Amino acid sequence: MSLFNFVDLDPPQDRFLEDVWQGLSRKPKTLPPKYLYDSSGSQLFERICQLEEYYLTKTEIEILARHHKDIEDLLEPDTSLIEYGSGSSVKIRKLLDDNPKISAYVPIDISKQQLVSAAREIAHSYQNLDVIAVCADYTTMIRFPDFGKIMDRNPAIFFPGSTLGNLDESEARTLLQGCRQLLGDRGRLILGIDLVKDPAVLERAYSDKKGVTAAFNKNILIRINRELSGNFDLHNFSHVARFNDRFQRIEMHLIAARPQEVTIHGRSFHFAKGESIHTESSYKYDLKRFEQFILSCGFELSAAFTDPRRYFAVCALKACPAVNIKTA
Ligand SMILES: C[S@@+](CC[C@H](N)C(=O)[O-])C[C@H]1O[C@@H](n2cnc3c(N)ncnc32)[C@H](O)[C@@H]1O
Repeated sequence: MSLFNFVDLDPPQDRFLEDVWQGLSRKPKTLPPKYLYDSSGSQLFERICQLEEYYLTKTEIEILARHHKDIEDLLEPDTSLIEYGSGSSVKIRKLLDDNPKISAYVPIDISKQQLVSAAREIAHSYQNLDVIAVCADYTTMIRFPDFGKIMDRNPAIFFPGSTLGNLDESEARTLLQGCRQLLGDRGRLILGIDLVKDPAVLERAYSDKKGVTAAFNKNILIRINRELSGNFDLHNFSHVARFNDRFQRIEMHLIAARPQEVTIHGRSFHFAKGESIHTESSYKYDLKRFEQFILSCGFELSAAFTDPRRYFAVCALKACPAVNIKTA
């Protein structure tokens, strides 16, 4: 009989308020993208994945379907596969199917409802797999009672969706160095990254005709209104996605249509007409530069699998002898 466990390390509500107050006090105003994902945000993201313009999900799934055996070859027997930002746990199925090497699956996500239901479905589909679902912010140190048992097997991390691209370079380095520390010298990291391409393709992907991405972006304001006693008027903000050439990233913004005051848990914020809240960045990578970057995080590239258009890459990373990186 396999194990199913749910560990709740959900970040506390006062942290959300603090982050929102802090972000809206900055110039330019920002909100951390992790707060886009409550239950409604996760449902909207699933609809984004189905959109014709959003090539990322389809392309990564195609790559995983084509190369799952190559990836399996890189894993050790009795592997615990830890997934960062597991969402609906759809992509992991490409690695779990017909793969006797994976004995435990640890999905980690901040969006609790979706995490629990997706993890239960996985446990139901793969009856010999131990599943431990962890609701946590993966940018913080994650430890839980069964953690040792998981790490006693051969740990590997799966981090798909180019979710790494939501972090700026120094945040991404800190996260990957944390993965290196967690995995130790024997660790494998399977990482999905979106590649640099025609900005028109990118802007279409983040600004679809049906307005689903706009709804996803504005959902953060609905969430602030509901959970933090905010009074954002959604009609006063519009969604904009644009490619920032200098930083090689798509930026999502919410732009104020008119001057206004917004109150959140008793604290007031002024918006000028046209002022933006920067809600998400999605960095796009050049494979050669990425290979250099991961070296500074204690990893080297074993293989990079791409699609025929070279839109997306699934990279297999292995721990390299650490340069100034402490191992666990
Ligand atoms: C871009 S979606 C990708 C979902 C899925 N992995 C995929 O590839 O389709 C990002 C996922 O990461 C989760 N997430 C974002 N920031 C997070 C954080 N700091 N800690 C834990 N989960 C996070 C979101 O809830 C969401 O499920």
